[in-house]
Amino acid sequence: MSTQGSGAPIDASGAVPAPIGVFDSGVGGLTVLRALRDALPAEDFIYLGDTARLPYGTKSPETVERYSLQCAEALWVRGIRCLVVACNTASAFSLDALRRRYPDIPVIGVIEPGAAAAVAVSGSQHIAVIGTEATIAAGAYQAAIQRLNGAARVTAAPCSLFVAMAEEGWIEGPIAEAVAHRYLDPIFSATAPAAPAAEVPDTLVLGCTHFPALAAVLRRVLPVTVHIVDSAATTAAAVARRLPARTGSGHTQGTVRWLATDGAARFARVSGIFLGTTLRVGDIEIIDL
Ligand code: DGL
Repeated sequence: MSTQGSGAPIDASGAVPAPIGVFDSGVGGLTVLRALRDALPAEDFIYLGDTARLPYGTKSPETVERYSLQCAEALWVRGIRCLVVACNTASAFSLDALRRRYPDIPVIGVIEPGAAAAVAVSGSQHIAVIGTEATIAAGAYQAAIQRLNGAARVTAAPCSLFVAMAEEGWIEGPIAEAVAHRYLDPIFSATAPAAPAAEVPDTLVLGCTHFPALAAVLRRVLPVTVHIVDSAATTAAAVARRLPARTGSGHTQGTVRWLATDGAARFARVSGIFLGTTLRVGDIEIIDL
């Protein structure tokens, strides 16, 4: 494999493999993009954050599906060969519609991989799931976990404020900790001292791609024995399994094209929390859907 001037990989046939499209309502999907780039460093990506219409998690199923189809179309017209729905809310409501609309490319969501990671790590199979209001109301994680283990018990709770806190960069400090206690204590500690072990989940699924930004605070607030699981690494592994293996060698660093629907400066600023590196405002192209 060699590279063109753009840095895009060229396979043995001389063709440049098309990029992988990734979208989320905002910057939360960057947690998934980061894992994708770790798993598939030579791939090129196009990331779209629908920042003009965030949050998705408080919207109706119909609206989330419509927004998701518009995001996917914006990526499709830019020539992607795989679509990663890096948003749990969009995955909960739109995967079927997206797969019907784009039958020729893999369309991969984050819920099945997250559920699989939780079932794999949980000893008691009592699993807690937190996500947006819409994701939890849809019961998508509950169903995905029970498809994998019909005997699993799922305790699910919406934690909508975590999305705004992550977008605001409030991921540490007393406010973040107080909100985390308010959401998680009823699940993990209120009844814990008197309750049998099985009454308290041993695993927490971060069922929203914004939530890994708060992982350090969640870790402090949770009992030490609780496993924290998110979908990023398992989704990346699922994508790697679905894409045809590359031939040739030599291309090691893929590129990312950044798209957002509003607020390039804000997107760039907050991206550091999720990506580990901060983007330059000029690298983010604003598009209309
Ligand atoms: N990051 C999205 C998710 O995983 C949702 C955030 C939002 O409410 O837009 O569900």
